[in-house]
Amino acid sequence: MLCPPAAAGCTRVQIILMAKTDGSIITVGITGASGAIYGQTILRMLEADRRVRHIHLVVTDAGLRLLATELGIVAPDAKKLASLLIGTPAKKIEYLPNKDVGASIASGSAVADAMIVAPCSAGALGAIASGIANDLLARAADVCLKERRPLVLCLRETPLNRIHLENMLRLHDAGATIMPAMPAFYYGPKNISDVVEQFACRVLAQIGLPQPKQYRWKGGKP
Ligand SMILES: Cc1cc2nc3c(=O)[nH]c(=O)nc-3n(C[C@H](O)[C@H](O)[C@H](O)COP(=O)(O)O)c2cc1C
Repeated sequence: MLCPPAAAGCTRVQIILMAKTDGSIITVGITGASGAIYGQTILRMLEADRRVRHIHLVVTDAGLRLLATELGIVAPDAKKLASLLIGTPAKKIEYLPNKDVGASIASGSAVADAMIVAPCSAGALGAIASGIANDLLARAADVCLKERRPLVLCLRETPLNRIHLENMLRLHDAGATIMPAMPAFYYGPKNISDVVEQFACRVLAQIGLPQPKQYRWKGGKP
């Protein structure tokens, strides 16, 4: 993939700095694990975040099925999926078909800052851990690892077998952040939205986008 014309002649470091100055470019992957609402909430926060310039959205076939099952979202026109998901016109989110292994994010030369997979299925975890880059989601994650960019994998599976545990360790050692969809309750959430929102805040903090609404523990009585 080629650098954009404005970046021609720049070194890789300069291009990365340009990206930071202009706003982050984030990839969000949604796979066929329970918890489509996590991906939806993260997308809403990224769309609203002024520090974010562009969001690439990749959804696996099983992920599309989960969006229908859990959120009732089916997009007859794939280009409308992002807007349907966040419930408002998506101005920054670009939907990329998972089959398109030639999309920009399939190359390390494309400017990109971080990737989140939420929810992440055990299958996607295994594919990424094995370096099987035969769809865009797995390839984009592979690119993040090889380019040493933040990759956050929100695995949703329980209980975990030895293969899952080994894959998590392998990915951790390769540079990914393993962040199971495992919400906290110490801040007194009132409803599911609170639970999901706080988890999403923690995920975004991992890629350098801390959110003002993130609950901060200030210490408690023993
Ligand atoms: C309703 C539904 C819920 C599922 N929940 C999970 C889950 O929580 N975790 C998981 O690892 N797989 C789950 N699966 C199975 C995956 O969708 C399946 O392994 C699929 O092949 C994953 O493909 P993907 O990684 O390309 O999205 C679920 C499947 C369905 C239909």
